[in-house]
Amino acid sequence: MSEVILEAIDLAKSYGKGHTRVDVLRGASLSVARGELVAVVGASGAGKSTLLHIMGGLDTPGGGNVLYKGQPISRMWGGRLDMVRNRVFGFVFQFYHLLREFDAVENVLMPRMIRAGALTWLRERRAARREALEILKRLGLGERVTHRPSQLSGGEQQRVAIARALAGGPEILLCDEPTGNLDEVTSVGIVDLLLDLNRQGQTMVVVTHDRSLAAKADRTVEIHRGRIESQ
Ligand SMILES: Nc1ncnc2c1ncn2[C@@H]1O[C@H](COP(=O)(O)OP(=O)(O)OP(=O)(O)O)[C@@H](O)[C@H]1O
Ligand SMILES: [Mg+2]
Repeated sequence: MSEVILEAIDLAKSYGKGHTRVDVLRGASLSVARGELVAVVGASGAGKSTLLHIMGGLDTPGGGNVLYKGQPISRMWGGRLDMVRNRVFGFVFQFYHLLREFDAVENVLMPRMIRAGALTWLRERRAARREALEILKRLGLGERVTHRPSQLSGGEQQRVAIARALAGGPEILLCDEPTGNLDEVTSVGIVDLLLDLNRQGQTMVVVTHDRSLAAKADRTVEIHRGRIESQ
């Protein structure tokens, strides 16, 4: 059994109060081993995005814990928490969330630039740009690096978003319905790309409705009534 790098233990999350209260997660637990591709399925509103955000440190649970290499993320603070958020996780969202005013390579660089601060960025920007161009090329976007999002197809925009998530070499890629907004043919390309990254060793958790992706994952789990069920 390979090393567990990310673990959600007994997560609880509720929204609202009184009679409008919704208990989205009620004791959800999930372990992710290094190199594994875990697909998460479940009905709309089941809590998939909620789970992914909490596992990636973007949101806090009402109860339970997320452990990164055995250490609770919720108890990390300052530099260590920043390090975990920035270096450990790469996020891919359903609607790309690219910045419209910037071209592909700038979009890939943006998170690193913001993270670095002015002085560090002056030192790092050349290497970072080289890396960004390399990733874009690897994802088949070598000819599109100066295109803005409006000049890219949906599939190309999602590739840029994946490139952005991969910049800096995150240990764990968290994808929230990466093909949810794409037509079938384009989806196949993105699924192949994710599977390829996984074969190269990338650990990932992918929320998906895509059966072909779920079928090819190492493991598929379902969120049902706020808990994780193995399929
Ligand atoms: N900020 C919020 N305030 C109140 N309720 C919320 C909030 N975020 C999510 N919810 C509710 O929590 C439930 C789970 O939401 P979540 O986005 O995790 O579902 P999901 O499984 O990702 O659904 P989908 O497949 O439609 O993306 C939904 O009923 C949603 O309405
Ligand atoms: Mg969702």
